[in-house]
Amino acid sequence: MPHKPFLLGSGTADIARSAAILKSGGLVAFPTETVYGLGADATNGEAVARIFEAKGRPRFNPLISHVAAAEDARRLGVFDAAADKLAAAFWPGPLTLVLRRRADCPVSLLASAGLETIAVRVPGHPLARALLAAAERPVAAPSANRSGAISPTAAAHVLASLGDRIDAILDGGAATVGIESTVIDLSGEGPVLLRPGGVPRAAIEALAGALAAPRPGAPLNAPGLLASHYAPGLPLRLEAKAAKPEEALLAFGAPVPRGAALTLNLSARGDLTEAAANLFAHLHALDRPDLAAIAVMPIPNEGLGEAINDRLRRAAAPR
Ligand code: TXA
Ligand code: MG
Repeated sequence: MPHKPFLLGSGTADIARSAAILKSGGLVAFPTETVYGLGADATNGEAVARIFEAKGRPRFNPLISHVAAAEDARRLGVFDAAADKLAAAFWPGPLTLVLRRRADCPVSLLASAGLETIAVRVPGHPLARALLAAAERPVAAPSANRSGAISPTAAAHVLASLGDRIDAILDGGAATVGIESTVIDLSGEGPVLLRPGGVPRAAIEALAGALAAPRPGAPLNAPGLLASHYAPGLPLRLEAKAAKPEEALLAFGAPVPRGAALTLNLSARGDLTEAAANLFAHLHALDRPDLAAIAVMPIPNEGLGEAINDRLRRAAAPR
């Protein structure tokens, strides 16, 4: 239901109110020094799903987890020497590091789009840091604009683009950097520049050595096409109406066909937001080498269902 979000300032009460909204699973747009972010509790899969819903993204791409301090980032990803150096030099600031997820990383797999890596950043804007400290959890946030629109550098841009789809906007004035953070992938052999941004390449290369370009054919905005993207070991059988005893069944809604070796339901009540939140975790759990395939019940292609089906088709593609 369309509604007007609270437009909040930078006072202590505004920050506390925004943090409470985040903790209860709501969406808060907040300023960073690069662009405004559309934030949700990164550890809450349904809250993360609402980000994709609000942005109207037809597919899931991985989101940056924002934290108040480098110590908090260490609980999410695996730091090597290069990560230590870059974090010390550029955080808080417009730098995002893509790291391997720690085994105990609490961030929803949906925020990582099912990848085994996690993007983390400590933003420099004081209001962002105050919000993150008050939220006491990582906050997943893409730029706060509708899919395909320009990144917002003022609260008014967010209001115009997403005003009827979010719970609150923290107004911190104009974003000073105005372009998104530089994204460096440290999860592989050497550092890779995934996206140029607020920290110039030369400043990073001075500390971490030469930055490689992303592999050709691995467009950043189509992470589902990355070779490293999580795909189940088992083949997927889409639009399944019945289940076989040697299959795992990824169900949706009710009634659920019986007879699969193992069944997990994305959402027994047929809720697409809940289904998106469960998608990657359920695929992981069903991907058992002793089974023959994952049968997937039909999922309506509306709302978040479009992104869910996009991801399932990619996972089902021959490789
Ligand atoms: O400045 C910024 O980075 C802003 C503010 C709000 O922090 N955020 C932002 O988020 O630009 P977004 O979602 O529009 O862009 C995040 C970029 C995307 O290009 C995404 O593909 C990449 O980071 N990314 C996130 N997680 C990744 C991962 N695990 N592996 C590879 N790329 C990742
Ligand atoms: Mg963006």
